Amino acid sequence: MNAPISIPELAPNLPEGLPGGIENYWYPILQTEELPADKPVAVKVLGHTLAAWRDADGRPCVVRDRCPHRSIKLSVGRVLDGELQCVLHGLRFNGKGACTLIPWEQERSQLHDRVGVRAFPAEELGGYIWAYIGDPVAFPPPPLASEVPEELSRPDEFMIFRLPTQVWKANWLLAIDGSDAYHAVVLHAHSQAVVDKPWDGGAAVEPELRLADRRVKIVRTSHGVRGVSVDQKGKPLHHGHFTVDVKGDRFTLPCIHTNPIVAAPGAAPYASRLWQFALDEEHTMVVRFLSWRARTDAEREAVKKVYENIALPRLDKVGEEDAWAAEAQGDLVSARSEEFLLSPDEDVVKVRRLIAGAFVAQKQSASRVDVRAGALEYPV
Ligand SMILES: [Fe+2]
Repeated sequence: MNAPISIPELAPNLPEGLPGGIENYWYPILQTEELPADKPVAVKVLGHTLAAWRDADGRPCVVRDRCPHRSIKLSVGRVLDGELQCVLHGLRFNGKGACTLIPWEQERSQLHDRVGVRAFPAEELGGYIWAYIGDPVAFPPPPLASEVPEELSRPDEFMIFRLPTQVWKANWLLAIDGSDAYHAVVLHAHSQAVVDKPWDGGAAVEPELRLADRRVKIVRTSHGVRGVSVDQKGKPLHHGHFTVDVKGDRFTLPCIHTNPIVAAPGAAPYASRLWQFALDEEHTMVVRFLSWRARTDAEREAVKKVYENIALPRLDKVGEEDAWAAEAQGDLVSARSEEFLLSPDEDVVKVRRLIAGAFVAQKQSASRVDVRAGALEYPV
């Protein structure tokens, strides 16, 4: 029998194991409201089945979702005094994964030390429950706030709107590919393009130019390759994705895309922050929030109007379109081995190299590529 063909042979530049996700980073595994005070929740991230709950102080805890005693899911258990109790025989675990009670044994017997469960560092910030998925001994987790966008830690300065988390039936690497900055003018032509007139505070209005008569101009900006919607003579249409000056990178590890957006002429600019990470090899968890710089009540009122009247209705459609575009590429190996890249795909290639490089660095040289400090600074 022939040896099975490995993924790197089938799809060059795709290291073995990468389709399952890149470990040793912080991931937003749940939204705050999805983790109640008194009940564990099951969640799957990067192929790990996890049980999350809150301790007696309300802090999130995350462990492997399997009791080390008889292998039942801990997520069907109970939260008692801030600890997670296995529903079957009553073993109890704290947020560090240590067994604190075996109901028929003396307290703190030696047996307790032998039946721990794997725990993952967990924190709550900006409306999300974050877990460090990986090995905290080999790759100690940097402080969460240093690796995620600054606005999550600064509610006084920014206004954030979290969108419902989605699960797409596509590999996470295809989802990341699908966030290139020039597809929007085509895929989201109806859901994003707006007339080139000052926004009147109401719903966004699509320009009258027929889709068949629109073209795309590729421009290179400080934030990478972008697509601009134009008519056949090259006159730009307002695509609702206006370029604004930004600091930092459009893509940052492990899976974060930042898009600065002016939704309609005159509307306050915002940043769309998007995480796309593996739930398992066939599914992607998609977490997105929008953030505006807003300090005063008047600024916050104005921002709320942009969000409710333009950004939210648009994002509902855009999210759906991006999901089916990722799903329509089929499986990862076929998509990667049958593609023919064109010049605007240069940023897609850069992102792929960054991810693969960080993944291989962990495997080969045991070093973690840190998310560069300052790389996620807000648009100015
Ligand atoms: Fe899109």
